[in-house]
Amino acid sequence: MKKSANTHGLKAVILVGGPGTRLRPLTDNCPKPMVPVVNKPFLEHTLAHLKLSGIEDIILAMSYLPEAIREYFGDGEHHGVRLTYCIEEEPLGTAGAVKNAAAYLDRPFVVLNGDNVFLEMDFNEVYTFHRDKKAKATIFMTQVDNPSAFGVVETDDDQRVKRFIEKPPPGTETSNRINAGGYIVEPEVLEEIPTGQHYMFEKGLFPKLLEDGQPLYGYTYNWYWLDMGTPQKYFNFNIDLLLSKTKSPLFQNLTGDGVYYSGENSEVHPAAKITGPVLIDSDCKIGRGASIKGPVIIGKGCIIGDSTSLEKTILWDKVNMGQNSRLKQCIIASDTIIKDNSKIENSVVTPSKTVPLSV
Ligand code: GTP
Repeated sequence: MKKSANTHGLKAVILVGGPGTRLRPLTDNCPKPMVPVVNKPFLEHTLAHLKLSGIEDIILAMSYLPEAIREYFGDGEHHGVRLTYCIEEEPLGTAGAVKNAAAYLDRPFVVLNGDNVFLEMDFNEVYTFHRDKKAKATIFMTQVDNPSAFGVVETDDDQRVKRFIEKPPPGTETSNRINAGGYIVEPEVLEEIPTGQHYMFEKGLFPKLLEDGQPLYGYTYNWYWLDMGTPQKYFNFNIDLLLSKTKSPLFQNLTGDGVYYSGENSEVHPAAKITGPVLIDSDCKIGRGASIKGPVIIGKGCIIGDSTSLEKTILWDKVNMGQNSRLKQCIIASDTIIKDNSKIENSVVTPSKTVPLSV
């Protein structure tokens, strides 16, 4: 899609402080923003997209496992952005977390849920919409088939928000547009958020602004959107990127087939069979007679034993797969050892747990 420059000096706040309960056990030791998506932390894709959109001043609002994120991204220089970390001692909720960053927010800013995929968003276009409507806040909306699972946003013909309906019972929905987890907010709105208290956009701030008659608008985002908050959706998002159903600025070259390497020094035995789309990171060893049938993603330093087969599967880093094993439709977390002669299907496997994966 087209992308225009950030001519408005927008900053962004990314909410990365939630515990990621629904993504367990993958988030037991890994904060959701660091969960690898086609071999890069998800947050890295979002930062690359913001940078490409000209948004380089980015605040990370965090509380759960903040150190892993800070260690990887540092001040953001390697990623071409300037990162500010705002850490909550206790989780403050989505709006409370933004209030916690108020010292850095003196002009209109973008807020993004750290687990929602907006890699095709034209921020300049949505800001122009926001400005033209003279909105105090603009909510990014997406259209879904099953709105009853989400927070529905009702708007009038001018896209002004009339009502929020949280998870309406099936059949009673009055709109299929839902809150997609991204906003543009005017800085004065921060005054409406209590300091140091748990407070949410969805249930607290936006209903209050509506009650007060403030101009709240909904912008319909018609591109690829997903909440990668569950293992199933996380799995689908990875596969969609590999199949080129959507693009990340970090992987513009994926075309939906072929074998790609996202790192160096991986060794593939000449008698191994690989059918794309497959993405392999650095320092992997793929043994004699192994069979890899895409879509498959293999992280850094993985070992695939002789005669082992993988199909429609995601391996994180340093997964050690024994010989003569079969894996189909699985997510295997880092450092997991899979014994010889294992047969595992439709599962999420970590070093200590195996749970079903239904996609
Ligand atoms: P679940 O526990 O599985 O619901 O996931 P989550 O912890 O990510 O919560 P949820 O998906 O509801 O949160 C939406 C976004 O807001 C995510 O990007 C969270 O990281 C973020 N978030 C939720 N609560 C807080 C908070 O208290 N502080 C901060 N900084 N971010 C939050």
